[in-house]
Amino acid sequence: MTAMSLVRNKRDRGLIACLALALLAFGGTTAQADDGYRLWLRYDSLPAPLIRAYRERVTSVVVTGNSATLDNIRTELVNGFTGLLGAPVPLSSDADRDGVVVVGTPKSSTLIAGLRWEAQLARLGPEGFRIRSLKLRGHSLTVIASNGEVGALYGAFHFLRLLQTQQPINALDAIQKPRLQLRMLDHWDNLDGTIERGYAGRSLWNWSALPGTIDPRLRDYARANASIGINGSLLNNVNANAQILTANYLRKVAAIADVFRPFGVRVFLSPRFSAPMELGGLKTADPLDAEVAMWWRKKADEIFKLIPDFGGFVVKANSEGQPGPRTYDRNHVDGANMMAAALAPHNGIVIWRAFVYDMKPGYDRAGAAYENLQPFDGKFAPNVLLQVKNGPIDFQPREPFHPLFGAMPKTQVMPEFQITQEYLGFSNHLVFLAPMWRDVLDADTYAKGPGSTVARVADGSLFKQRLTGVAGVANTGSDRNWTGHDFLQANWYAFGRLAWNPDLPSRQIAGEWIKMTLTHDAKATETIARIMLGSREALVDYMTPLGLHHLMWGGHHYGPAPWWNTFARDDWNPTYYHKADTNGIGFDRTKSGTNTVNQYFLPVRNRFSDLKTCPDKFLLWFHHVPWDYRMRSGRILWDEMAFRYQRGVDWTRQTRKAWDALSGVIDAQRHAEVAHRLMIQERDAVWWKDASLTYFQTFSKRPLPFGVQKPERTLEDYKRIDLLDDLARGKSTFDENH
Ligand code: GCU
Repeated sequence: MTAMSLVRNKRDRGLIACLALALLAFGGTTAQADDGYRLWLRYDSLPAPLIRAYRERVTSVVVTGNSATLDNIRTELVNGFTGLLGAPVPLSSDADRDGVVVVGTPKSSTLIAGLRWEAQLARLGPEGFRIRSLKLRGHSLTVIASNGEVGALYGAFHFLRLLQTQQPINALDAIQKPRLQLRMLDHWDNLDGTIERGYAGRSLWNWSALPGTIDPRLRDYARANASIGINGSLLNNVNANAQILTANYLRKVAAIADVFRPFGVRVFLSPRFSAPMELGGLKTADPLDAEVAMWWRKKADEIFKLIPDFGGFVVKANSEGQPGPRTYDRNHVDGANMMAAALAPHNGIVIWRAFVYDMKPGYDRAGAAYENLQPFDGKFAPNVLLQVKNGPIDFQPREPFHPLFGAMPKTQVMPEFQITQEYLGFSNHLVFLAPMWRDVLDADTYAKGPGSTVARVADGSLFKQRLTGVAGVANTGSDRNWTGHDFLQANWYAFGRLAWNPDLPSRQIAGEWIKMTLTHDAKATETIARIMLGSREALVDYMTPLGLHHLMWGGHHYGPAPWWNTFARDDWNPTYYHKADTNGIGFDRTKSGTNTVNQYFLPVRNRFSDLKTCPDKFLLWFHHVPWDYRMRSGRILWDEMAFRYQRGVDWTRQTRKAWDALSGVIDAQRHAEVAHRLMIQERDAVWWKDASLTYFQTFSKRPLPFGVQKPERTLEDYKRIDLLDDLARGKSTFDENH
């Protein structure tokens, strides 16, 4: 059960329903009630002047040829145009009038074949597309063409997006091609329907009903992914259950793959490294054992027989208790290449995760993945990708970029982001993640001098990488609105858009999403964009400012627990990460400490190492700093820290007010839902500030500076009460006071 479904008490639910009904009944809003299911593909009618303009260019749809993907294009365009333009836009068979939209490939459409675009379409590949306004036999047409049907589908969604975001469509001449080849959602879904780190209900895959019964929602999921260019889906948790590879489950997986295929989404699975023992009865899973290798080859043959376009394996090995090659005294390359050999005859790939860290006395977890994997550069098989988390610890609200980016020039590397908010307030906190991912993509590794950004490592242009990709840990679930919080749909959307083009600005992505999902009202769009674009910095302020990290309550990672020091593994304890004492606070990763800063290239290494040049945002990540250290702002460290916590809280209050003012512009149902979660977010931000400052004050022994509000509870309270439990009880001092 999610925190949200727990917290929502009957009274709240009733209130929201009444509010929604009242607003609808009394016409208090122009917006219809909306449960969020339609995501950014709502297709409600556009403002009248726009409809008039667009109608001239959109009178009918011509999609010739027969295939499930072409059917999808037809359905999408007819539904989309009809909805957006407020009157039916029919299918027709010929481009015999102005305003026909022609879509397809040179194979499916004689009209497109006749345009002689072969050379250009070939360069764009099966997923790229060209859209042009042109005159043919005296008629003004729009042609959307690709060499592949999925590319044509992407083009159709692109064209719809132009209408949804109110762009001109009169004189189009656009080409698009995805910059990354694999654009994947990783689902950490367990076979019992629960989702590891999932906060939006249960798994979308109903394993017990499959393959006989196919939930129609699977199609909607695939369609939503296609609309933003996502082309891969890892179905099961990387903490894998071997059962997923049994014949019984593979038939279910094949049924899902059949639904996804016409939308261009391929399925991937996470195998358990020890599956040859668990399923095959072998005595070992040693990757260099011939029988083991044979077992995997046969398993791969079996999978590809059922699912000819199966993507491959995503492997978590020798990490957090998972078995792996090191269990048998072999190394990561032995493990990855053995699986790669099994998949290679079918063009399958292995995505090997670099999230590996083993506690040793005095070690620094931030340096562990580099130490474990970097020495293997150049050793992985050609169909292996190494999947590297955006930062060196674990999806924190802010981390510097992972030092493995740029450090393995002879290895195919792909970034892994977390869309689900394990460390960022679950689905209760409104946080737009595009700016966070942008920070990492734009970070300059200097691996080959200036301009060696993470985006250029990922898109393969820096080291001529043949296979490229990016993965995002999904935030979807069975909640009606898919992501729990309506705004967190924007993170699914943003991930897809950035995977397609890692240079897209956050503001553009936010703007598109707002117009497609929430409102066309210009003032409201501006307000909402401001909220979204400021949200990540605000969250960092109220949770872990100035480079602090991993201070969350043990296990679930929801509320603050900087005092936590009871895990046997020290690198799971918040105290390990902040190292506060009476002198100061922060993790010294420079020469005087663990020196893992050394894993970065020059001049990044020097910039982070030197207190004077280290950006404030990474200060306590790399340095242990005295409480009275004078910051760039002129304040001492303690005051600056307190000021930032307060600034984060203030943001939540201003945001609630700004959102309240949008009532009537946004449909009542989603407005009330979001308002409710913003209330939780404010309450949590206050809790984070108060708990953290009260605890750190026991070391700094300094008063809170002017302007920082006094904590509401005692340190003993914060230590005793688990914020998630408190939230679940649905009753707290917050509810009484606010
Ligand atoms: C985090 C997360 C785990 C997950 C792991 C991973 O540590 O808390 O639930 O399994 O990342 O990425 O493998």
